[in-house]
Amino acid sequence: MCGIVGIVGQQPVSDRLVDALKRLEYRGYDSAGVATNTEGALHRRRAEGKLVNLETRLKEEPLSGNIGIGHTRWATHGASTERNAHPHFTDGVAVVHNGIIENFTELKDELAAAGAEFQTDTDTEVVAHLLARHRREGMSRREAMRAMLKRVRGAYALAILFEDDPSTIMAARNGPPLAIGHGDGEMFLGSDAIALASFTNEITYLIDGDWAVIGNSGAHIFDFDGHPVERPRQTSTAAADLANKGNHRHFMEKEIYEQPEVIAHALDHYINVIENRADMVSGIDFARIPSLAISACGTAYLAGLIGKYWFERYARLTVEIDVASEFRYREIPLSPQSAAIFISQSGETADTLASLRYCKELGLKIGAIVNACESTIAREADAVFPILAGPEIGVASTKAFTCQLAVLAALAIGAAKARGTVTEDEVQELVRSLAEVPRVMGQVLNSIQPEIEFLSRELSKCRDVLYLGRGTSFPLAMEGALKLKEISYIHAEGYAAGELKHGPIALIDENMPVIVIAPHDRFFDKTVSNMQEVAARGGRIILITDEKGAAASKLDTMHTIVLPAVDEIIAPMIFSLPIQLLAYHTALYMGTDVDQPRNLAKSVTVE
Ligand code: F6R
Repeated sequence: MCGIVGIVGQQPVSDRLVDALKRLEYRGYDSAGVATNTEGALHRRRAEGKLVNLETRLKEEPLSGNIGIGHTRWATHGASTERNAHPHFTDGVAVVHNGIIENFTELKDELAAAGAEFQTDTDTEVVAHLLARHRREGMSRREAMRAMLKRVRGAYALAILFEDDPSTIMAARNGPPLAIGHGDGEMFLGSDAIALASFTNEITYLIDGDWAVIGNSGAHIFDFDGHPVERPRQTSTAAADLANKGNHRHFMEKEIYEQPEVIAHALDHYINVIENRADMVSGIDFARIPSLAISACGTAYLAGLIGKYWFERYARLTVEIDVASEFRYREIPLSPQSAAIFISQSGETADTLASLRYCKELGLKIGAIVNACESTIAREADAVFPILAGPEIGVASTKAFTCQLAVLAALAIGAAKARGTVTEDEVQELVRSLAEVPRVMGQVLNSIQPEIEFLSRELSKCRDVLYLGRGTSFPLAMEGALKLKEISYIHAEGYAAGELKHGPIALIDENMPVIVIAPHDRFFDKTVSNMQEVAARGGRIILITDEKGAAASKLDTMHTIVLPAVDEIIAPMIFSLPIQLLAYHTALYMGTDVDQPRNLAKSVTVE
């Protein structure tokens, strides 16, 4: 989940490398660096922390050279210091790497025993040492590359400069994505097409096991065994002018307020699909599959969990779901007649991709709900369901979450229609409810800010916060807690309201705010009973409900946020708004870095 770039150009590259890295900073911002080859020598500049520090460094000490590589780091091995920042240099070899070299300890011991002196604590440095050793043994650069790739195990996207070759970059991919960009007399390399969007939209993706030699007029691509291979060249739709906050303070705020518009766009697409092709919702034969598996990570997983409730309730489909880091290793006995859906904003999450491949090997039909339609997960799926959220830059996912929900709701309705588990009237009713989402979202966003700010000030004084919910509000409670902890660093937990008395109730006292998400649905009365248990122990309740719930609940709460009453299927999308805004405003009071919270990265391409 680092980002890597490379340019083989006709003009100085260092500014352009930084420009491309800016569009990859969502992948990590612990340190950054660039290296160029100029006048037969390798030179580099590196800086700890965000890219802006590297920019300052480059202003003080500019870097010339028409060929170069760059890196923005999310630390896996070794602290986020300048010493551990990429590019790593060893004996005329410069390396940047995204991924993890799993056998680096064994390689490091072997290389150290042979006299290699390591300058960093990273796994990546073994790549530079292996290449340097193979060159000393007399191998050509290509032979050294092949020999190195045969020794390293793990996940990598690599870009390499050799001091004695001022005209090419070598690259290799196994796991994390790597795109080669074709320019006019110049060639580019990047972790994704967006990084290269201001240079070119003509892209060739390397596939796992590929390595390449890139010069300024083209690239030679080889498979793992060194045979030349052709990979298709495609026109990317990625746009460069994404990084624009408009009038908002943060991307996260902008993305929260964009939700009515992007959901409208997504729903427009999927309501059409339900109405016209529900028998086979764009590639998965929901009428015939015996069950469905869903897997994803983090917020995308929580969207999947809400989707499970919908597929089970409306389409009467049994859903097996787990976080991808568990799913991939559980050896779940899945039927090849089933289908599996993987949800990922980035489309590059390593565990989600591995779970997809597990299901693919078992013969299941694979669906991908993604934002990045050119991503690896999208490319490996049989059916792609774009969420159409537009670029999400804030590390904390907001609009991607609600768009994932919109797509899952539409697919569940389409599946129900195809399976005959709902009547045509019910389908129409559900579709009518979905179509209401953008309007109601707009209404909520226009009205709740003042009370959210007041509550956020209170939350910012707390050490811990508990979120409770039942039914689809349970995953939403977990999402509320996840959002709060990741951007405000306040400890928070989301629980099924019915589980409260099985343990977490021990935490309740007058210092513990309990945020209860309770639309006036089938579970409302039961959730009210759970709130009473909290109130009886002095807990401070913040109730998020709707007009009907507010009228029905006689409880004394610290505060009640009242949303418009909506149909059950759309409640998770509407109720997402206050929990996102609560996290956002609490983070503002805490003074944290909202868009780039500590230790996180937007795209997790390592296990
Ligand atoms: C939380 C968040 C993460 C991601 C998770 C999966 O706000 O953004 O939990 O949801 O890392 O990422 P994708 O959806 O790119 O697979």
